[in-house]
Amino acid sequence: MTKEELIKEIRTVKDFPLEGILFYDITTLFKSAEALECLGDILYEMYKDKGITKVVGIESRGFIMGPILATRLGAGFVTIRKPGKLPAETIEESYKKEYGTDIIQMHKDALTEDDVVLVHDDLLATGGTMKAAIKLVNQLKPKQTMVNFIIELKKLEGRKGFPKDLEIDTVLSL
Ligand code: PRP
Ligand code: MG
Repeated sequence: MTKEELIKEIRTVKDFPLEGILFYDITTLFKSAEALECLGDILYEMYKDKGITKVVGIESRGFIMGPILATRLGAGFVTIRKPGKLPAETIEESYKKEYGTDIIQMHKDALTEDDVVLVHDDLLATGGTMKAAIKLVNQLKPKQTMVNFIIELKKLEGRKGFPKDLEIDTVLSL
């Protein structure tokens, strides 16, 4: 499948979750066996030569392709979760959302200084979630950190404000 064909598999839903928002629903992309396999293949080709040892997925939509990619790469999978979900000792970051503040957490022993990390999420909108995730991951001082999204919403200019030397790649740009 081409990237244009993959984009056609994404359902758009008007006024969800709030009026005026056009929601990009990737469940329709994952539902298609062909699109799901193609997405896995594209991600694998993007990262197969990067020496990645851990894929870090952001709850919850980063938990879909994250483990699929980790398996293909022969890497481990680590979860970044919403507060109060992880059982052992955690580190955390808080970040501002449109309304109020959110917190994300990760296990303190999830990464080592030898890890080459790919932080994965489904969507780059404002970038607030991923910026917090990068700060969280970098608290554990991995050897290298890279970022991947399935979809980037270009108009929202979410790439602004990330560290300049950070490698950020997306599969689809809308
Ligand atoms: C969505 C999406 C990204 C984030 C992108 O997650 O899955 O994680 O928002 O927005 P940003 O770039 O403006 O931070 P959401 O918080 O809705 O939770 P979910 O993944 O559990 O659905
Ligand atoms: Mg999310």
